Amino acid sequence: MERKIPSYFEGVHEYVSMPRKLVFGPDSVKQIGKEVKKFGNRVLIVTDEGVQKAGLVSKVTDVLLAEGVEFYVFNGVKMEPDLENARSVAKASRERSYDVVVGVGGGSCLDMAKVATVMATNDGDVEEYFGDELVKRPGLPLILIPTTSGSGSEATKGSVISVSDVKKVIFSRWMIAEVAIVDPMMTLTMPPKLTAITGMDALSHAIESTLSKRSNIISSTLAKGSVKLISEGLEAAYRNGRDVNARYRMAIAATLAGASFANSSVILGHGLSYALSTLFHVPHGLGCSIALPYVMEYNLQERVEELKDIAFYLGINVGGLDDVKAARMAVRAVVDLMREVELPLSLREVGIPKDAIPKLADILVSKYQRLLVNNPREVNYEDAKRIFEKMWEGELESLSGSKG
Ligand SMILES: [Fe+2]
Repeated sequence: MERKIPSYFEGVHEYVSMPRKLVFGPDSVKQIGKEVKKFGNRVLIVTDEGVQKAGLVSKVTDVLLAEGVEFYVFNGVKMEPDLENARSVAKASRERSYDVVVGVGGGSCLDMAKVATVMATNDGDVEEYFGDELVKRPGLPLILIPTTSGSGSEATKGSVISVSDVKKVIFSRWMIAEVAIVDPMMTLTMPPKLTAITGMDALSHAIESTLSKRSNIISSTLAKGSVKLISEGLEAAYRNGRDVNARYRMAIAATLAGASFANSSVILGHGLSYALSTLFHVPHGLGCSIALPYVMEYNLQERVEELKDIAFYLGINVGGLDDVKAARMAVRAVVDLMREVELPLSLREVGIPKDAIPKLADILVSKYQRLLVNNPREVNYEDAKRIFEKMWEGELESLSGSKG
């Protein structure tokens, strides 16, 4: 029987973002000297103090020292960086002449390494480049080394910066990495809570990009591979950070999910998380995690088939289940995973006051339309309020089982 192409796969798509080269596997970070030398001998390393204190920057610099490569370490990246922080990175990139930028850390560090790369070669202020492809000249060659398994920044061309607490993004093809080194050994010291939060950020990238209006056959295939690896690896990595097998699955899952949403998009869930971070500075991955099951449920009728597939990749036996029931099982499986890694299911558990809901809904629809336009189901202000109310209460139909 001929199968119809799902409507959200219609049209012509472009596959653009992925590092030119991906080096991966345990101890792959040792390749950094060889990779750097292809571009030159003067390196700017962009990182933060936490990553440095965890001994992860020295894993890079030890190799560079042994290879006789000159480097300067900028360790001033802040968590979820703002414009001021991005400007200080830009300044550092212009103070000396570099051949290559190496980002080492979580999403914030990698995003700031992208800023360093393009600001070293382009004039003006960081603020001029928010938006799509406004960076004029190629940046310095960029090498990205993630130390969390979440943001997927190593596989995207975006850099997220807070401006007056609103998350804005620079998208530029000059911020695609020449090389990403995905080494699970660089993630072993991540504490359990950060493992859980960043892992759920990766899962939200995979699932949201699959549900997106811009989903396509390549992005959704990458995403489902990511979902499978996360369902196999996240709890184990949370329980035992030294489990290299679990860490390896999570590291690759995060990169694949990044490549997925870079070629599709994230949707409502990231909008909800950004609104929470705008008003209450809720950490990005935590906000994405709490939002995820509600976003799946909100879009369930529009994406039954895709959610059934996701349930399968989350390890659910969907054989014999009707489609809607199977889709609801995907929501349940995500909730089960959140419980396994001890993350909250509701906004009340993280201390968000209920009376903030109208303001949160207003921020979502006024500041983050760019995420809502790709959501399969329309979201207006009233919808946004209802979604936040459900998130506050922890109310999920799929858990009650009453609506089949
Ligand atoms: Fe994210």
